[in-house]
Amino acid sequence: MTPAIPTTIFERMSRAAAAAGAINLGQGYPEMAEPAELIAAAVRGLREHSNQYPPMRGLPGLRQAVADYYAAHQGLSIDPAEVIVTSGATEALAAAILAIVRPGDEVICVQPLYDAYKPLVEWAGGRVVLVSLTPPDWSLPVDALEAAITPNTRAIILNTPNNPTGTMLSHAALSAVGDLCAGHDLTLICDEVWEAMVWEGAEHLSALTIPSLRDRMIKVGSAGKLFSLTGWKLGWVVAAPALAEQVAARHQFLTYTTPTPLQWAVADGLALPRDWHDAHRDRYVPGRRALVDGLRDGGYVVLDNAASWFVTIDLTASGIGLDDETFCTRLIPEAGVAAIPFSAFYAAAPETRYVRLCFAKEAPVIQTATARLAAFRAGLVG
Ligand SMILES: Cc1ncc(COP(=O)(O)O)c(C=O)c1O
Repeated sequence: MTPAIPTTIFERMSRAAAAAGAINLGQGYPEMAEPAELIAAAVRGLREHSNQYPPMRGLPGLRQAVADYYAAHQGLSIDPAEVIVTSGATEALAAAILAIVRPGDEVICVQPLYDAYKPLVEWAGGRVVLVSLTPPDWSLPVDALEAAITPNTRAIILNTPNNPTGTMLSHAALSAVGDLCAGHDLTLICDEVWEAMVWEGAEHLSALTIPSLRDRMIKVGSAGKLFSLTGWKLGWVVAAPALAEQVAARHQFLTYTTPTPLQWAVADGLALPRDWHDAHRDRYVPGRRALVDGLRDGGYVVLDNAASWFVTIDLTASGIGLDDETFCTRLIPEAGVAAIPFSAFYAAAPETRYVRLCFAKEAPVIQTATARLAAFRAGLVG
């Protein structure tokens, strides 16, 4: 019999937060006005374009728009034939993993990790081999990565910018990964869904810019993250033609296609000018500042975050003697705030002194939450 699949921590914390009427800084979804241009484009998609099956690999206009967006924003040269539209990044990951992993293969996953990677590798018959980023800057230990490679290794899965740490892999780290992949004939699956949510002038560096990875990697993106419309579940992969072909063959029997009106809408959204994209991203700046400043004022040690909607607090450095799970479990009833323990992002040997908080809310909501967090810490440390 298939082992039971536990409910994710995000569901559990969100349910507990709703039951307690707590402010939910746990699950990563925005509670802010949605981009009007995208909603109008979706209405146009429904009313003026087709509601019938689109081509299996995605509308040609959307595949072109993805290529154009990456050319303009990340300096990538992509042929639209290298883009496959999927039902969210989650399906993109599933199709990519099913395309690459065969029974008995080993896949190196880097912790902390997005929770879908491990079950998907295992459903494909593969075995996950874990390597952990090194706190507190969450750098990639390239030596440990190399040491984890065996003759059975088939692929590496990376996530940059990273959820939950909000950090990005450097050019040096990505080049080293490129050398390892080329030297051992490995495929890289690089989950870059947080690519547009970068702060204080930071720039996303796609692993696809590394020449040795250009033909041996699958880049995963998500319109839900780009446009703060997480319920749209529209994503894509970008990969060299031979790899894209393999991914398309799996996509064909996972979902076959992705809702047509939303494909039109996302194509229009991606084509919006640079200024629009910058302004959309900058809507998160007040919430981010309110969270970081409010936490620091309340005595918390906050780690650097260059990207994503999340910041990390270090409980130990903040003088709090609780582990992350206990802290988060007590935080909901005692302070009225929900957060996510870092240990939820580990498949083994978890870090238990860090907690993730989401700032994709209006600044006043964040200010109320940080006041509660400050009072909670004061009650703990005396
Ligand atoms: C790192 C990472 N990958 C993938 C996803 C899933 O994206 P989507 O909602 O487009 O399936 C998420 C969502 O939070 C994520 O954080």
